[in-house]
Amino acid sequence: AAANLVDLKQALASYPHCKLKQGARSLVFADGNPAARVMIIGEAPGRDEDLACRPFVGRAGQLLDKMLAAITLDRTSSDSAQSVYITNIVPWRPPQNRDPRPEEIAMMVPFVARHVALINPEVIVLMGNVSCQAVLGTRGITRLRGIWAEAWERPVLPMLHPAYLLRKAEAKREAWADLLALRARLVV
Ligand code: URA
Repeated sequence: AAANLVDLKQALASYPHCKLKQGARSLVFADGNPAARVMIIGEAPGRDEDLACRPFVGRAGQLLDKMLAAITLDRTSSDSAQSVYITNIVPWRPPQNRDPRPEEIAMMVPFVARHVALINPEVIVLMGNVSCQAVLGTRGITRLRGIWAEAWERPVLPMLHPAYLLRKAEAKREAWADLLALRARLVV
């Protein structure tokens, strides 16, 4: 029921049911421009994000920034047409960066749904399997990527996670195709 982003962040901060919170230093809520046309939903914070209190600031985040720059998007832009808004399914760093468990993902989905409603983006990008599981109810990112789906009555584009691209450089070609699909969608 949060009426705005401050209330939503507060609701997460006082939510007692997710054990991941106990092992994390910070609540990593979001970054970027709340007025952006594009909302990017990642997985969970890692060590760098937990320390910085901001999503996607480590190596994967730096690659994400480069990918976005290639299609002239920039989380620091105050222009809603050029900017992005970035959050994660889980706002607390899992221990040893393990994958969030299905029940941990499930309990965060209502918060993500409210986050999406408050930001009201035109387009959502789902980075990797955890966000596909949470939002589309299915995994298999190498099959889902690049194919527009729908969630919360909005177009949703699953993409390969930048952390995956750091491990598998040859997949960058597919990521590039998906970035172009995103860019094309924003032209209209
Ligand atoms: N990976 C994610 O999915 N989110 C972050 O914030 C950082 C790395």
